[in-house]
Amino acid sequence: MTAPALLDQIRESGAVPRHVAIIMDGNGRWARERMLPRPLGHRSGMKSVREVVEASLEAGIEVLSLFAFSQENWQRPPVEINALMSLLEEYIQKEADDLEEQGVRVRVLGETERLAPAAREAVARVTQQTAHNRKLTLNLFISYGSRAEIVRAARRVAEEVQAGTLRPEQVDEAAISARLYTADCPDPDLLIRTSGEQRISNFLLWQLAYTELHISPVLWPDFGRSNLFEAILDYQNRDRRFGRVPV
Ligand code: FPP
Repeated sequence: MTAPALLDQIRESGAVPRHVAIIMDGNGRWARERMLPRPLGHRSGMKSVREVVEASLEAGIEVLSLFAFSQENWQRPPVEINALMSLLEEYIQKEADDLEEQGVRVRVLGETERLAPAAREAVARVTQQTAHNRKLTLNLFISYGSRAEIVRAARRVAEEVQAGTLRPEQVDEAAISARLYTADCPDPDLLIRTSGEQRISNFLLWQLAYTELHISPVLWPDFGRSNLFEAILDYQNRDRRFGRVPV
C-alpha cells in the first residue's frame, strides 16, 4: 500500500499514538551489506530521520523520541564517534530552519556535557530557535542511558529530602517522573525498534512500562514513511489494557 493510502487508513482507524519512541538500529549492517564504511550507514540513516519527522507531522504525532547515541556508544572507535558527532551538527545546521517552520520543537536529552563544544553549541542553538514550537516535539537522545537517568532523578530526590524541600512521603512515581529528562512528555504509546533486534538497550526503562512494542525487520537507513505508518496501524490494532481487564 502507498504511504498516502496508509495515512488514510490511520485516520479511519482511530487514535494516533501521542508519543512514538524509536531505537534506530541497523546502520552498520546496512553499510556492511554494501561494503561501505559504517559512517556512511549513519549518514544514510540521517535521511530516514528527516523522513520520519515529516511523516510524524503528517500523522499528527505529538512527541517523537529518537535514540541517536547511547552512553555505551562512547566505546565505539573514535572515527565512528567523530562521524556521529559531525552528523549531529550537520543535521542541525541543515534542518534547523525547516524544523522551525514546520512547528517542531527540538530537544537534545542526555549527558550533553560530554559532547564536543561545537556539537554542544549546535544543540543549544536549535533548542533555543525552536523552543516556542508545539506541533511536534522531537526528542533526540544523545549520550543517553536510562539507568543513569533514573539514578540522576533519585539523586535529585535525595538532595531535596536532605535540604528539607521534599518529605520522604512525597516521593512517589510522579516525583520520579518529574525529575526525568522526559518530565513534560506523556509516556511513549509506541516503541519501534528497527533491524529485527528484540531488546530495549537501556532506553526509557521507566517510561516504557505500558508501551506497545513494534519490532521492524527493516534496517534504519531503509526505514521510511510507509514503515512508520505500518507501525502506527499495528499499534491501532492493539488492545491496550494497562494491566486492567476489559470492560
Ligand atoms: C545504530 O546502528 C545507530 C546508531 C548508533 C546511530 C543513529 C544515528 C543516526 C540515525 C544518524 C544521525 C542522527 C541524527 C539525529 C543526526 P548501529 O551502528 O548499531 O548498526 P548495527 O547494529 O547494524 O551495527
